[in-house]
Amino acid sequence: MSDSAAQPEFWNTRYAAGRTPWDFGGVPAALGEFLVRHPGAGRRVLVPGCGSGYEVAALHAAGWEPTAIDFSPSAVARAHATLGPAHAARVVLGDFFAHDFAKAPFDFIYERTFLCALPPRLRADYARRIAALLAPGGQLAGFFFFTETPPDDGPPFGLAPGEPEQLFAADLALEVDAPASDSLPIFAGKERWQERRRR
Ligand SMILES: C[S@@+](CC[C@H](N)C(=O)[O-])C[C@H]1O[C@@H](n2cnc3c(N)ncnc32)[C@H](O)[C@@H]1O
Repeated sequence: MSDSAAQPEFWNTRYAAGRTPWDFGGVPAALGEFLVRHPGAGRRVLVPGCGSGYEVAALHAAGWEPTAIDFSPSAVARAHATLGPAHAARVVLGDFFAHDFAKAPFDFIYERTFLCALPPRLRADYARRIAALLAPGGQLAGFFFFTETPPDDGPPFGLAPGEPEQLFAADLALEVDAPASDSLPIFAGKERWQERRRR
């Protein structure tokens, strides 16, 4: 199992080579629907492992105050290029697990292909960090990638069915669980939109 995905160089290499099969190129439908149901009204949202960062502008347009973070300088450069100067300051270079977020706690954390990019040994740390960064009543919502068999190589590293319930059991309650409608080929049939709320 590859642990190199825990290092920014792994991702820099892929962005530099244009090997980004996870890159959606826009805003997935389920996030657009979520934003209709949940306008931000100035509340704060975090986009961890933001990559090209397409969602940042959509979140802002829906009234959210976004912070996005990625530890790959290549990803941050792409996000800045994607979003332009109006949103560049919202995208920071840093480690999700260590960064001191000035805007924490967040009312919403948006997940897409970040958890499945992490070596599985980091999943418990991810769950603890999410809980620590979410305000009471805040939501973790986004896309979660599942595989029936444990990942022997990755990324992406699929979750086992039911695994998120164990990961988040202490702090977050599942409220919405539905298949994703517009998955990219590498995630097709294995991606679910899920919403959890911080207790
Ligand atoms: C598969 S990409 C997904 C990018 C984006 N979420 C998307 O949907 O296109 C995973 C991203 O997570 C970033 N990443 C991985 N570990 C990280 C960490 N500890 N802190 C911040 N970013 C991280 C990588 O640099 C990479 O850009």
